[in-house]
Amino acid sequence: MTYFAGLYALQHAVKAGYSAMVKIITTVRELKAALEDGRMAGKTVGLVPTMGALHEGHASLVRRSVAENDITVVSDFVNPTQFNDKNDLKNYPRTMEADCRLLDSVGAQYVFAPSVEEMYPEPDTRQFDFTPLDKVMEGPNRPGHFNGVAQIVSKLFYAVEPDRAYFGEKDFQQLAIIREMVRQLGLKVEIVGCPIVREEDGMALSSRNTLLSKAERKLAANISHTLFESRIYARRHTLASTRQYVIDTINSFDGLEVEYYEIVDGNTLQPVSHWDESSYIVGCVTVHCGKVRLIDNIKYKE
Ligand code: PAF
Repeated sequence: MTYFAGLYALQHAVKAGYSAMVKIITTVRELKAALEDGRMAGKTVGLVPTMGALHEGHASLVRRSVAENDITVVSDFVNPTQFNDKNDLKNYPRTMEADCRLLDSVGAQYVFAPSVEEMYPEPDTRQFDFTPLDKVMEGPNRPGHFNGVAQIVSKLFYAVEPDRAYFGEKDFQQLAIIREMVRQLGLKVEIVGCPIVREEDGMALSSRNTLLSKAERKLAANISHTLFESRIYARRHTLASTRQYVIDTINSFDGLEVEYYEIVDGNTLQPVSHWDESSYIVGCVTVHCGKVRLIDNIKYKE
């Protein structure tokens, strides 16, 4: 569903009697006006940036923001500049009406759902450099992706001026890059990283999971199973052997294909060679399951 189809579905639902308690805002101007009184009264603002298709993982971020701030804004915007694959952008799930229902249930006050023209009245030509954080893992595999993420997240930060912003640890590299962007731009916002939320079978929640067939979804649970098992394997094996174990085990399932598995320092994101090389070690994986690209990670040391 396109952005406009999503918005149309929502308007239709509103006409049919569904009234969202969360206030839907579509322009930066309207958003700034809505937040002004609260800000003047010294209220704190939490921002949860999302691309919609909200699930329990997002709900956990929103709940945390609602608990820690007076006002919570959730942005719901599928950002075109972070997609290096046009089909991925076209197929990205859009579920605006369900998103508003979920946001109502968790107590967010505002959903900011701008159009592409609103966020990019002219092309954003800013080029960020997050070396070395963006030179590994998703960086080379998705050229331009993190630059697009930095473009939209910085625009959202300028629009909302939040005290705190909430991001899931599932996108582990994104979280590190956003922290670095905030440092480079000298912004005041506090970045809060929140733990991965998993399904009962261990699968990390992701908007992309809805793109999996039933069989693929079942198969994909082997990604997190393997990561969990690798923590036990790691107790008696070298880092190189553990890395290979994860790659070989996931690839042994017909229908799963590892794009990369890197075991990295959790702060610098640079690959480590020995377990004693850092006190914070995380394994990050990207796996193709049919046409869907899934990511997950596991902490070995923290
Ligand atoms: O993690 C996401 O959903 C997106 O990358 C973000 C941070 C909302 C920027 O579009």
